Amino acid sequence: MRITPLANNFGAEIEGIDLSDPSQEIKDAVYQAFLDHQVLVIRDQKLTPLQQVAFTEIFGELEWQENAIYAHPEHDKVLILSNELRPDGSAVGVVDAGDFWHSDSSHHEIPVKITILQSIRNPKTGGDTEFCDMYRIYDALPDDLKLKISGLHGVHHVSKALNPRVTISPSRPGAKDFYETQAKNRKEVLQPLVRTHEETGRQALYASPRFTLRIAELDDAEGQPILDQLFTYVTDRKRPFHYRHKYRDGDLVMWDNRCTLHRATGGYGLPDIRRMHRTTVIGERSFFRPAA
Ligand SMILES: [Fe+2]
Repeated sequence: MRITPLANNFGAEIEGIDLSDPSQEIKDAVYQAFLDHQVLVIRDQKLTPLQQVAFTEIFGELEWQENAIYAHPEHDKVLILSNELRPDGSAVGVVDAGDFWHSDSSHHEIPVKITILQSIRNPKTGGDTEFCDMYRIYDALPDDLKLKISGLHGVHHVSKALNPRVTISPSRPGAKDFYETQAKNRKEVLQPLVRTHEETGRQALYASPRFTLRIAELDDAEGQPILDQLFTYVTDRKRPFHYRHKYRDGDLVMWDNRCTLHRATGGYGLPDIRRMHRTTVIGERSFFRPAA
């Protein structure tokens, strides 16, 4: 097993292991590397949906799938992300998922801690995922800003209709109605703006342009400029705390949603097909705690 750190010393590539039936030693080493590096790119895997579920279960309980119609026919906890269409024109999987910076399911009271994507098929161009390191972004904040956000909460919601920082894709039929219904039916969830990682004890900024609408304790006149300032670190064009992953077939990428954000960069289209199999592990309710 070889572990090589990636760009900006954020994330790591792992080669030389087979996750279809890993030993306890491999499982432990992968999890330690995951805690150390936050994003892992594990090369050359060929897991069936059942094997991917078995590998994911090592780390905890799998999350229920919100998009059940896009679950894999061989296992309902495996979500298909794909732009592929059936002969009748219906979508095989979730198209255009995650185009704005976010942490998966932060709009749930108990968000996911781990997301695992196995890359099945890749387009000739595009389809990369970008990640950013929210430990390092928190560390880089000026002291007065750290003090200002200490103990505060972000209000998270899934509906794009409520969030002026994002746009609804015009190419997705029915998307506007979908997000307007979500705006009415789903509730807001509070998350600490600064999250202490349950396992490493390190502090990370825990807010995203996609899901964080406002700061709960402040009115918008005060809170929105603070969020804008925080998000400049995420969207910084120089990408100092970031890693951009270009997939090879057989890459299994797993990341820690407690201390990273990610976004899909798009840039591909039919007849080029992109297909990923996604599984997610439920985390814990997050609270603000001072650093250990
Ligand atoms: Fe995501």
